Amino acid sequence: MALRIDVLTLFPEMFAPILGTSIPKRAAEKGLVEYHLTNIRDFATDNHKSVDDKPFGGGPGMVMMCQVVYDAVRDVEARDPRPARRIILSPQGVPLDQKIVEQLSQEQRLLLIAGHYEGFDERIIEGLKPMEISIGDYVLSGGELAAMVLIDAVVRLLPGALGAEDGAADETFADGLLEFPQYTRPREFEGMKVPDVLLSGDHKKIAQWRLQQRMLRTQERRPDLWQKYLQEHPDALNEKKKKRRRPPIEFEI
Ligand code: ADE
Repeated sequence: MALRIDVLTLFPEMFAPILGTSIPKRAAEKGLVEYHLTNIRDFATDNHKSVDDKPFGGGPGMVMMCQVVYDAVRDVEARDPRPARRIILSPQGVPLDQKIVEQLSQEQRLLLIAGHYEGFDERIIEGLKPMEISIGDYVLSGGELAAMVLIDAVVRLLPGALGAEDGAADETFADGLLEFPQYTRPREFEGMKVPDVLLSGDHKKIAQWRLQQRMLRTQERRPDLWQKYLQEHPDALNEKKKKRRRPPIEFEI
């Protein structure tokens, strides 16, 4: 059955270009995922269609109100019998990583709540108990872009979403290492050559070189990921020492 993704947002129109393009679009066409967008403002009850109000205690900005969000969540959830994994996008959330993305791709139904303004009334978190997810340590003007990032990352993992030639199995983060450098035609461009090993036809050597490159890159660019990888692969350093060779430098970091 298709993964059902409900999104509660004040700006449903923001999603159309992303969900209607490339892999998110193709996945929906293939019946792997369904997107249902709902405007939170449809659940406002006053004449002004208010969804937010000033914070108690003072301070700048506006806060999303409880009633409108609770009503929206309850209404949307009742549209399908499958229980939804509730997620609020917020800079206060756990940082999104590939492990979380993989877990979410196994769910039957996701309900994403994208807020605007200063944030949500804390009782929305307390009562609805959503998972809070952040896409990074910076502040966006709303949760919509974060929701789209999450949707894109999840949907491409659904079985059949990617073509056979671009499977997600051995890419960056699947095993905690960055990706190896890639090349395509021509063999030489403005004096820069494709490494000989990739033209050798020796698949074993190519696989060794690629693994080495992945380890070197991870070590150099993401020491945090490298430490984690070493904990999970205690033999990695020995493997690397045996075969270590400097990679061609592609750009300064
Ligand atoms: N809303 C605003 N900033 C955000 C972030 N970094 N991640 C998720 N949601 C957000």
